[in-house]
Amino acid sequence: MRPPSPLLILLYVTLSRAMKTVSKRGSVDLCTDWSVDYLKYRVLQGEPVRLKCALFYGYIRANYSQAQSVGLSLMWYRSTGLGHGDFEEPISFNGVRMSKEEDAIWFRPADLQDVGLYSCVLRNSTYCMKVSMSLHVAENDTDLCYNSDMRHMEKAELSKSKDITCPDIEDYIEPGKDPHIIWFKECRPKQWRASILQRRDSLSIREVKEDDIGNYTCEVTFGAFVVHRTTELTVTGKMEGGMKRCTSLGYHFFFLQRFSAF
Ligand SMILES: *[C@@H]1O[C@H](CO)[C@@H](O)[C@H](O)[C@H]1NC(C)=O
Ligand SMILES: *[C@@H]1O[C@H](CO)[C@@H](O)[C@H](O)[C@H]1NC(C)=O
Ligand SMILES: *[C@@H]1O[C@H](CO)[C@@H](O)[C@H](O)[C@H]1NC(C)=O
Ligand SMILES: *[C@@H]1O[C@H](CO)[C@@H](O)[C@H](O)[C@H]1NC(C)=O
Repeated sequence: MRPPSPLLILLYVTLSRAMKTVSKRGSVDLCTDWSVDYLKYRVLQGEPVRLKCALFYGYIRANYSQAQSVGLSLMWYRSTGLGHGDFEEPISFNGVRMSKEEDAIWFRPADLQDVGLYSCVLRNSTYCMKVSMSLHVAENDTDLCYNSDMRHMEKAELSKSKDITCPDIEDYIEPGKDPHIIWFKECRPKQWRASILQRRDSLSIREVKEDDIGNYTCEVTFGAFVVHRTTELTVTGKMEGGMKRCTSLGYHFFFLQRFSAF
């Protein structure tokens, strides 16, 4: 018999490190803990969010209905700190604002007190898998329709085309329907020039100009709620010799510097 490969040993060590005990009202079982998922939920206070158990999106093959049909149950725990391993308590879904629906928790809407790590545990008597998701809720900045720390970042090149999409809104639009999106720039409605087209979930700029830099906010209506996403667009100029320079602070400065060097 061949000795086990180093890769298998490494896998075994990694998996046994990931095994952690999760206490569940009296009983203690071994649970494979996948720690904190890379996907972070960041929402504005007062806006809805659907926090999905990441186990079904990349950790196991089954979806929620399949897991349910083989008798696995899904439970949710929460720790108020954002550190992994903080004390967790089971979530009781008794209000209407926060509800458990299939593989997710819906917050209608999210509130500042909801900030924390949410763990979903999928188990039966012999099997247990766990992963945690972080939820960050913040208020908009004073006089702004967004929170600066929650902005998405996009880059565009001068005179090239650029699509700015309204990110992570799939859960807030009805399947098969076109979302109703309103776009703002610097939180103000804008009359877009003819070469900027609003497509299904994006704003399409045919030829990027220098003053296209800025903060684009999309607003999606979702029942009685609205969802906002903000993207900061920076514009880079293409220099001869393939040199690029970020112009969010000034394309002209760069030219001035270059020419004054002669
Ligand atoms: C779950 O997976 C099964 C088999 O792949 C599929 O038929 C079913 O539509 C899926 N259910 C959901 C809710 O996605
Ligand atoms: C628990 O679930 C696992 C994975 O679906 C399955 O292989 C196992 O047979 C189940 N155990 C019991 C006792 O149902
Ligand atoms: C900031 O958020 C509050 C509540 O979350 C909202 O009522 C208000 O309209 C927002 N401000 C702007 C300028 O969008
Ligand atoms: C984009 O937003 C940031 C933060 O609110 C602000 O400092 C910056 O001036 C804005 N950009 C433009 C072009 O207004």
